[in-house]
Amino acid sequence: MPPKILVERVAKSFGDLHVLENVSFEVDEGQIACLIGPSGAGKTTTFNLLAGLDSPSRGRILIDGMPPGPETRLGYMFQDLRLLRWRTVLENVAFGLKARGVVRGERATIALKYLEILGLAEFKDTYPHRLSGGMQQRVAMARAFAVDPTLLLMDEPFKSVDAQLRLYLLDLLVKLWRETKTTILFITHDTKEAALLGTRIVVYSKRPVRVKTVLEFPRAVGDRALMDKDVVEMDHRLLHLLREEGVGSFDWIRGEADQVREVLKGLRLNAPE
Ligand SMILES: Nc1ncnc2c1ncn2[C@@H]1O[C@H](COP(=O)(O)OP(=O)(O)OP(=O)(O)O)[C@@H](O)[C@H]1O
Ligand SMILES: [Mg+2]
Repeated sequence: MPPKILVERVAKSFGDLHVLENVSFEVDEGQIACLIGPSGAGKTTTFNLLAGLDSPSRGRILIDGMPPGPETRLGYMFQDLRLLRWRTVLENVAFGLKARGVVRGERATIALKYLEILGLAEFKDTYPHRLSGGMQQRVAMARAFAVDPTLLLMDEPFKSVDAQLRLYLLDLLVKLWRETKTTILFITHDTKEAALLGTRIVVYSKRPVRVKTVLEFPRAVGDRALMDKDVVEMDHRLLHLLREEGVGSFDWIRGEADQVREVLKGLRLNAPE
């Protein structure tokens, strides 16, 4: 059996900007893998390559042993939810099923099943903009799972929600994953999210990107809590690895120090040393 995802010696440049230099990793069938790395380190670029929206400059990407193409049944969830305003909650969730050739009646049944799991059945005829932010997140999650994806790609889907809501949504995600056992690649810059979710955690370096390390965390997903010793340890380990890549070092502020001093002088305030 080939791995679900194979990324092999992939490089990707945009003109002179070398984003991915030499990236290799694998994800197994049924696994939740996390991809974590600094901002601007090619995570969304990797997402686009896996989704077949762009192609590598070098190397190869295979999903179930095949290059990604229109026939690969992918589910997506992005940070901006991309819900359709003029369609009801049910229609939004059923949307991707039409393209898969599922007949109308069955589309509604499938969509409703996922809305029920996510506690949204009573809002099926509501329009998305009448829902709270967290409810909209759940609609997008239901839509991603409804197509019965062979692979679910999630690009920082919970980036803009507060910590408490994020935990709730992560919990629902795990619930759906347990139900479906679909393979998930979850992209994040949040070390806690990765420590709670990933059984394999791929850590990217800063640009030009290579895989800094791949951590295995075999403890059952859904059975982890934020304060568990091994989850805290994994969180700290990931933080440390990201700090080595410059995340959180505030070099960008130091780089601006002279300009800041000039501005403060103009305001007759003392500049910090
Ligand atoms: N189509 C494109 N054309 C030119 N440059 C691009 C393109 N797509 C991405 N880039 C550049 O590639 C680099 C990596 O971008 P990418 O969006 O993959 O980063 P990221 O890891 O997802 O960052 P973040 O955590 O902030 O979302 C950035 O410098 C970006 O400007
Ligand atoms: Mg990104």
